[in-house]
Amino acid sequence: MFRPLDGLPPAPTVALYVDGVTVEVAQGRTLAIALLEAGYHATRRNHRGEPCAPYCLMGVCFECLVQVDGQDNVQACLVRAEAGMRVRLPQGPRTVEEH
Ligand code: FES
Repeated sequence: MFRPLDGLPPAPTVALYVDGVTVEVAQGRTLAIALLEAGYHATRRNHRGEPCAPYCLMGVCFECLVQVDGQDNVQACLVRAEAGMRVRLPQGPRTVEEH
């Protein structure tokens, strides 16, 4: 789906964790692009369990929501992939505690 332009030198990489798996991604990419380049074409599942993927890549569609370092609903297209980042890909609706 995504590939770097031909002729560009390879970018240095950083390691982050996606659902507990170590993934090397190009330094300087947004998290959304890094996930797509790493083969995560569906970055979450919606409330019906359908796969969703980053769409607009500019903060408008909210299709790229992931959990980063414990913080829910981070727009992956608006943050840079950083070394050591712990990313979880949402799998359906959040649960709500009832009292
Ligand atoms: S891809 Fe659309 S808001 Fe992130």
